[in-house]
Amino acid sequence: MKVLLVGYGCMGSALATPWSKDDLIELMVVSPHCPQLPNFVCDVKLLADNYRPDAIIFAVKPQLLSKVAPYYAKFVTEHTVVVSVAAGFSLQRLRQLIGGCLVRAMPNLPIVIGQGVIGLYADKISTVQRYCIDLLFGSAGTTTWTASEQLIDAITAISGSGPAYFYYFTECLREAGEHLGLSPDIASMVAQQTFIGTAALLNEKQDQTVEELRQQVTSPNGTTAAALSVFEQEGLKERVKIAVHAAFKRAQELSQ
Ligand SMILES: NC(=O)c1ccc[n+]([C@@H]2O[C@H](COP(=O)([O-])OP(=O)(O)OC[C@H]3O[C@@H](n4cnc5c(N)ncnc54)[C@H](OP(=O)(O)O)[C@@H]3O)[C@@H](O)[C@H]2O)c1
Repeated sequence: MKVLLVGYGCMGSALATPWSKDDLIELMVVSPHCPQLPNFVCDVKLLADNYRPDAIIFAVKPQLLSKVAPYYAKFVTEHTVVVSVAAGFSLQRLRQLIGGCLVRAMPNLPIVIGQGVIGLYADKISTVQRYCIDLLFGSAGTTTWTASEQLIDAITAISGSGPAYFYYFTECLREAGEHLGLSPDIASMVAQQTFIGTAALLNEKQDQTVEELRQQVTSPNGTTAAALSVFEQEGLKERVKIAVHAAFKRAQELSQ
């Protein structure tokens, strides 16, 4: 499969890492300051006019996509799959710039270690094309196809922004630890290692739900139960819903 990747920044390089190791993928990358390797070029003008990739993946900033995409229109046939990972860039806008079978992808930061979540949406795509795109992105994380483009904004609000929520909660725990008298260094280490260990444990115990794992740490009338009941009383679940809805609304506004 011939894959042309446009943009080799945080997302682009994370996607290119598994693709460049796959013998079934013939990867070509275009990015201004890319490594000096045979399959990397710094300018679209260096691609042969008769180059016909099976898929073009745009991993440039959303504000650059309108400028960049039209330069690639000449490589596109009706069978080419064109994927954009640009946040808040609708397929309708992309369709005005380039042809092909269009796909919107919403990866998240953990794709840099192959543990991301990638939301995908396509309105018109064949089963074979869908399978190939699923395999491509599946090498960078767990893929999920949404039934509507609007649900890509929901994926953005949960997994796209999600890593920041978990980091923020870790910051909150660190501050709470300091408030209880731990030194900043110890509070930071304890909060971070708890986050890392808890995620690793969840990953190991995939036969158990998060609720079951939480219950294992929560003895009746114990310390964890005391904290969790405060979270409940303070309406943390509702507040999380309100915050995530704000992210969802913002994603919708950006897609206009
Ligand atoms: N980062 C995230 O967590 C995340 C999550 C979901 C979606 N996204 C989306 O992913 C896209 C890329 O984000 P990013 O974080 O990877 O940004 P980034 O690190 O800034 O990468 C953008 C890349 O595009 C390159 N570029 C600039 N002009 C170009 C051109 N004319 N032709 C080809 N490449 C060009 C840049 O090269 P130079 O740096 O050399 O100029 C850079 O390598 C964005 O649209 C963003 O919305 C990001």
